[in-house]
Amino acid sequence: MEKKNLDWANLGFGYTKTDYRWQARWANGEWTKDGLVTDGNVTLSEAACVFHYSQSCFEGMKAYTTKDGHIVTFRPDQNALRMQNSCRRLEMPVLPVDTFVEAVKETVRANAAWVPPFGTGATFYIRPVMIGSGIQIGVAPAHEFLFRVFGSPVGSYFKGGVKPIALQVSQYDRAAPRGTGHIKAGLNYAMSLYPTMEAHRAGYAENVYLDPATRTYVEETGGANLLFVDQDNNLIVPKSDSILPSVTRRSLVYVGEHYLGLKVIERQVKFSELKDMKECALCGTAAVLAPVGKIHDPATGNDICFPSGMEEIGPVSKKIRETLLAIQSCEIEAPEGWICQVC
Ligand code: PLP
Ligand code: COI
Repeated sequence: MEKKNLDWANLGFGYTKTDYRWQARWANGEWTKDGLVTDGNVTLSEAACVFHYSQSCFEGMKAYTTKDGHIVTFRPDQNALRMQNSCRRLEMPVLPVDTFVEAVKETVRANAAWVPPFGTGATFYIRPVMIGSGIQIGVAPAHEFLFRVFGSPVGSYFKGGVKPIALQVSQYDRAAPRGTGHIKAGLNYAMSLYPTMEAHRAGYAENVYLDPATRTYVEETGGANLLFVDQDNNLIVPKSDSILPSVTRRSLVYVGEHYLGLKVIERQVKFSELKDMKECALCGTAAVLAPVGKIHDPATGNDICFPSGMEEIGPVSKKIRETLLAIQSCEIEAPEGWICQVC
């Protein structure tokens, strides 16, 4: 198979239309698998539930080319399970894990020419999405649903690769207590667009959201979880019911504990403690692990500047990032069940 002629090393994080996507439709209590299709457009009624009541959820994952030329994905079963949780909370039909994983593998295999070669730094981003496609005018779930998986070759999410980024504390909340913060609902991102653009206009890469009930504890960013390294080199993981359970974060934590011998402490983290942390990073599929050099708090005008600074990634963040990347591209052995070979 001949690869597409792309400038792999200089890709941004964006959509490139590839050759195939995978589709299934739900109606009358059953899934119908269309399988691979070529049309990248979807035609819907103007009265489709998704347009009015935002009945939609999605996932984000990546495929990697290994050193020996295979293509693999990383823990797709975890994304399948998380999408099932999203669907339950949004009154959408649950897709079996096997169907989800089959859809992902078929999409990647069919688009193998678009999967960036090993060593380019680029990856193939996979976006499974489900929407309420049926007509619905009264506020109620749709009666028909569409599930699609498509993918696109991508480079790094933040410009500058692993150069530390600056964040600001959002004056808006991301997720209500007992709301939808723990699922990957499109509506969580719709409401984040205004604060995201505010952060960008002020010169910050992303927002840090605080717990909405008390605005005392740190939750996560708009599109990634947060991690900290304390003075004793422990990995500190914020705990909250309204954080999205990141597959990357759970994997980094496992890597920290089992590959690098770090002590991992998952607990509520007060915003006031951040000034005592040695390192800060955000993590997610798109972002991998991005070091955070500084967090600005518009409420007080203060900056928290982490000792690792704005030039270099901190040593613990560097080690866990590199170890995870090596696992994902099969350079070092993965824990059982993490690597799913596509071809
Ligand atoms: N938190 C939010 C709000 C996200 O959108 C994402 C991205 O998927 C993550 C965390 C990271 O999750 P994962 O590592 O599973 O991609
Ligand atoms: C991902 O990391 O896959 C996401 O979905 C985050 C998104 C904000 C790009």
